[in-house]
Amino acid sequence: MEQQIEVLRSEALAALSTVADRGSLEAARVRFLGKSGAVTALSEGMRHVAKEDRPKFGKLLNDLRLAVTSALESCEIRLLEEADAAAVSALDLTLPGTFPNAGTLHPLTQLMDRAVRCFRRMGFAIADGPDIETEWHCFDALNTPADHPARNVKDTFYLPDGRLLRSHTSTVQIRVMESVPPPVRIIAPGSAYRRDEVDATHLAQFTQMEGLYVAENVSLADLKGTLEFFFRELFGPGTDLQFRPHFFPFTEPSYEIDIRAEALGNQWMELAGCGMVDPAVFEAICERRGDRVYDPERVTGFAFGFGLDRLAMNLARIPDIRMLVENDLRFLKQF
Ligand code: PHE
Repeated sequence: MEQQIEVLRSEALAALSTVADRGSLEAARVRFLGKSGAVTALSEGMRHVAKEDRPKFGKLLNDLRLAVTSALESCEIRLLEEADAAAVSALDLTLPGTFPNAGTLHPLTQLMDRAVRCFRRMGFAIADGPDIETEWHCFDALNTPADHPARNVKDTFYLPDGRLLRSHTSTVQIRVMESVPPPVRIIAPGSAYRRDEVDATHLAQFTQMEGLYVAENVSLADLKGTLEFFFRELFGPGTDLQFRPHFFPFTEPSYEIDIRAEALGNQWMELAGCGMVDPAVFEAICERRGDRVYDPERVTGFAFGFGLDRLAMNLARIPDIRMLVENDLRFLKQF
């Protein structure tokens, strides 16, 4: 029996050393350790062994079982290591990888971010308001009489309930003063809507940035200084500005700003509206608030507003405003 055990041990170890895949590993396990395997069959032979020899052979059989089990385990580890090595050797680290498709910011967003950063450095906070507005916030509070052309249904989008899509971001001036006492210093970037025929230079929805500064003793010099600093930060120190007298119902005096900059093609461009907040606007706010913190005898302020779309177009030499909203990747990928 001792010899049988030795023969089986060398047979098992030899068989396992040549196993090359998981299938033959499993077959070897069944062949030696399975229910009707060789080791089990040999254990059955114990019945014919003399009683006093049984402990000795029992120990030898047990050793055999352990030896075969551990050989099976090493064989399994060897197969795993071989599989790993094969996978790594098939890996070509010099092949190009797959790049994640990272997008870029829309040219309008890029310009907006730059403008916001600059105003924040001057202490302006960001404010916003709803795109769907009341007539009061869009026109009445801004001293715009009922027969003003901007209030015409041909120029402004009205909803059936009498509300409207704001035709400028000046509504946010009103909303801020309604809810916050002076001093206020805010900018309000956002969409505005007009019933324009859509063509290469017009969209029915465009982007504006509004500004408002109200406190004691705010002057026209503050307005000019702030906007000159801003546009020179944005377009370079050589930028020329021209404040041309104009009319807006909600500012007095009012100006349009023309600007000429290398970055904008060096030609004069009409760019922004601005002026000193009209006392009539402050009076409307006082009435609405029920207090006199915006008494035009106590506070003054300046306001300005400009469109971002045309600026972005001039900066990036975009020939047609519709390209800004068409979401064509061939266009967007250039920024
Ligand atoms: N709301 C004006 C427009 O849309 C711009 C403006 C804002 C003018 C603030 C003066 C003061 O044209």
